[in-house]
Amino acid sequence: MKIKVGVIFGGDSVEHEVSIITAVQAMEYMDTTKYEIIPIYIDKNRNWYTGNALLNMETFQDLSKVSFKTTHVCLTKKENDFILVNLQSTFKKVVSTIDVAFPIVHGKGVEDGSLMGYLDTLGIPYVGCDILGASLGQDKVLQKQVLKACNVSVPNFIWFYENEYFEDSFEILKQIQTLGYPVIVKPARLGSSVGIQVVKSEETIKQAIEEAIIYDEKIIVEEVIPNLMEVDIAVLGNHKSMEVSEIGEMLTNHDFLTFEDKYIGEGKKKAPSKSSKTDSNSGFRIPANLEKKVEEEIIATAKQAFLALNLKGVTRFDFLIDQKSQKVYVNEPNTIPGCLAFFFFTPKNITYTDLLDRLITLTIKDYKNSQKKISSFESNVLSTFQGSKGAKNKLKKES
Ligand SMILES: Nc1ncnc2c1ncn2[C@@H]1O[C@H](COP(=O)(O)OP(=O)(O)O)[C@@H](O)[C@H]1O
Ligand SMILES: [Mg+2]
Repeated sequence: MKIKVGVIFGGDSVEHEVSIITAVQAMEYMDTTKYEIIPIYIDKNRNWYTGNALLNMETFQDLSKVSFKTTHVCLTKKENDFILVNLQSTFKKVVSTIDVAFPIVHGKGVEDGSLMGYLDTLGIPYVGCDILGASLGQDKVLQKQVLKACNVSVPNFIWFYENEYFEDSFEILKQIQTLGYPVIVKPARLGSSVGIQVVKSEETIKQAIEEAIIYDEKIIVEEVIPNLMEVDIAVLGNHKSMEVSEIGEMLTNHDFLTFEDKYIGEGKKKAPSKSSKTDSNSGFRIPANLEKKVEEEIIATAKQAFLALNLKGVTRFDFLIDQKSQKVYVNEPNTIPGCLAFFFFTPKNITYTDLLDRLITLTIKDYKNSQKKISSFESNVLSTFQGSKGAKNKLKKES
């Protein structure tokens, strides 16, 4: 019997559309001799839908019409089955069962651990990292604090909440001064370069902070790494076994990669699909042009960071390199990377289909292992517990 994989995508985040592209492409490459694909789409209002129409990119050309071609559902558990319940009709209540969930979501409210928490509450096995890794992956402050504590090199930074800034902006600006200009200001928990600005001097710092505050109440300000070269590497596996991809070098003309560079630039307008000639790795030079020593440092650091951040599945790490000093810094992990970073694995003879297969196989293996661990106890505590009545009687006796 085929394993039923529920591919969950969409969600209320700025990266909603990117998630659709990644998911539709992944479903196209999944081995259908082994897996039955159940697409599950979360719209921007957080309603969940399923149906075969979700396998086609055309369905998403008008997002307001997706619900007409699909069934409104809820993912829950009944006895030992994980089920998609039809919320539209009482006629055919259970639309499908699911064996493994495959979250392909990007950004806040989904990728940040929220979706993982829901899946954990149900107890359904799912691909990728758990709540802890996922939430560290989303928070640019916490991830840097953990990496720094584990001796992984990250750019110097300071951070604050918006209320701290409005209460004492002088103090915050003083701290920024210690980093030295230029600095880069970021909302701490967003993504896709939204709300990010490079600031060259104190004159424009307030405007950049106030722009970032529009998106998040937690702000991070980092030193700008000069003579910048940006490279990416993906790590596949778990804490027991890690495999690294080829290293890719990002190609861009801007100070930093904008939302447009990442998703709307040439080569990213359409979902790269099996049939299209669009090359989904456009924007990268693979392999990156690096000295052996730097390459080795990036591989070792990526593995160290994967472990430190409690990651699992496939994570793409963005690195910043100062080409003059050859110093290497981790910029950030992407715990559910765009296109699942498959094109970094292709040169290593791991096809997209292999990558998806390995991710699902790893999930099932880890799930079976976790089932062997004791997670709850049979206990008769409640049979003798008399609730507040019992407590009141006890108090009376004592007084
Ligand atoms: N400390 C830094 N020094 C120089 N450039 C940076 C620094 N941090 C980020 N950038 C640039 O800004 C881009 C977006 O920043 P990043 O932290 O990756 O945000 P996002 O989560 O939106 O991708 C990076 O890809 C890089 O080009
Ligand atoms: Mg990034």
